[in-house]
Amino acid sequence: MSVTAILQKVPLFSQLATAELDRVAEITRERSYPRNSVILFEDDPGDALYVVATGQVKVVLIGEDGREVILSVLGEGDFFGEMSLIDEEPRSAHVIAMEDSNLLVIRREDFQAILQQSPGIAMGLLRELSRRLRRVDEKVGSLVLLDVNGRVAQLLLDLADEARSDRITRRLTHHTIAQMIGSSRETVSRTMRELVDKGYIEISRREILIRDRSALEASAGRS
Ligand code: CMP
Repeated sequence: MSVTAILQKVPLFSQLATAELDRVAEITRERSYPRNSVILFEDDPGDALYVVATGQVKVVLIGEDGREVILSVLGEGDFFGEMSLIDEEPRSAHVIAMEDSNLLVIRREDFQAILQQSPGIAMGLLRELSRRLRRVDEKVGSLVLLDVNGRVAQLLLDLADEARSDRITRRLTHHTIAQMIGSSRETVSRTMRELVDKGYIEISRREILIRDRSALEASAGRS
């Protein structure tokens, strides 16, 4: 697939006309990262924006004892690395490839030039930052207000919203889910089993199907 065709599917760039997309494609470099490689290190200076063309990456904080908190999992069409470009502070987190991933890299100066030429992109960036802030707000609330059962329910509902379907096909292990909601793998596995036993969800090799959305919403404190 051409870089222009990839960029066309990125929500941030979707409003651009083909000629503009071609211009962005020209200043974009493609790089591949094997599974588990670190793409960005927390506290490093930031000089580029990244767009996920294929694969999946996680945004993580790592404690001194080596424990990981996953702030977000990003997939095809998502971007990261914008924060350091905007505020010129060091990278706020590590970003690590969860699978072999192909990324498009846009250098700071080039991205700033695109932003100035296309107010639509600046608006798209603000919209995404707002969406991420809402997610963080929700996460802070759930860490304080919900038990693990509620946090798992909330995560499943978020993933379903993201997929715009009751079928969740994003590949997340119980260990990853535990790192996303501040719990242990064992507790997540037990909670998922309970949700299956109660008939709220169905799990197969390929997907998690939400069978009783209103029961999950009640567990997540949304009703
Ligand atoms: P930057 O700080 O440059 O480098 C790390 C990147 O991780 C950051 O930009 C964002 O793109 C991304 N990031 C940090 N926190 C979050 C979050 N809570 N949700 C999604 N992405 C994030």
